[in-house]
Amino acid sequence: MDISQPSFWGRHIMPRLICYACGQPQIMKRRAQIVPKASGKILELGAGGGINLQFYDPQKVDHVTGIDPSTELINRARQTATRSQTPFDIVGGVAEDMPFEEDSFDTVLITFTLCTVTNQAQSLREVRRVLKPGGKLLYLEHGRAPDDAVHIWQQRVEPMWKRMAGGCHLTRGISSAIENAGFSTTATTGEYMPKTPRILGWIESGEASIVQ
Ligand SMILES: C[S@@+](CC[C@H](N)C(=O)[O-])C[C@H]1O[C@@H](n2cnc3c(N)ncnc32)[C@H](O)[C@@H]1O
Repeated sequence: MDISQPSFWGRHIMPRLICYACGQPQIMKRRAQIVPKASGKILELGAGGGINLQFYDPQKVDHVTGIDPSTELINRARQTATRSQTPFDIVGGVAEDMPFEEDSFDTVLITFTLCTVTNQAQSLREVRRVLKPGGKLLYLEHGRAPDDAVHIWQQRVEPMWKRMAGGCHLTRGISSAIENAGFSTTATTGEYMPKTPRILGWIESGEASIVQ
């Protein structure tokens, strides 16, 4: 995804749309269930906008580092951080090639980002690399619906949707992709979000740890 492209859409419209769509009440409710589980030294992948900052548990957080390729969303995250008590910094970069040492983080949080990264498998390999042994990956993502009828429509709509929504895919597996990358998952949930078209609304969340 390249929402930092110097087009008017990429710089001004897309970041606003992303922040609006990702801030809907039914999504915020699910963030409030997953984000407070993060503890210690935390990495947030695709932290653009900083929307999760309000949900961290200050008693459990040492520091949150975000990474995101979008200058506009990084700026938004920095603004949001000025209103938050959570110690936070954010660097420009991509999940596929992160500028962090291996075994650096106790928790990696990924919300609505695996749909958009350019290379999902490589991003998850990087998560494995930077996560400490015994660390946890927390995720809340939308993706491939389990029902064939919905999935067929996701495949039809995806090419157009990707262009409109900054590279967001509709048909990517979520928990399955995380497991294929060498994690075991627990506490997983999957559901269609209320008041959302089913092709956009299949979401999965859970916790994952590295399979040794
Ligand atoms: C739909 S937004 C979600 C933002 C935020 N995680 C949330 O939950 O609201 C997708 C985010 O992924 C970021 N992104 C896109 N490609 C990425 C990549 N290759 N590596 C890391 N982040 C990426 C975008 O800039 C954007 O901030």
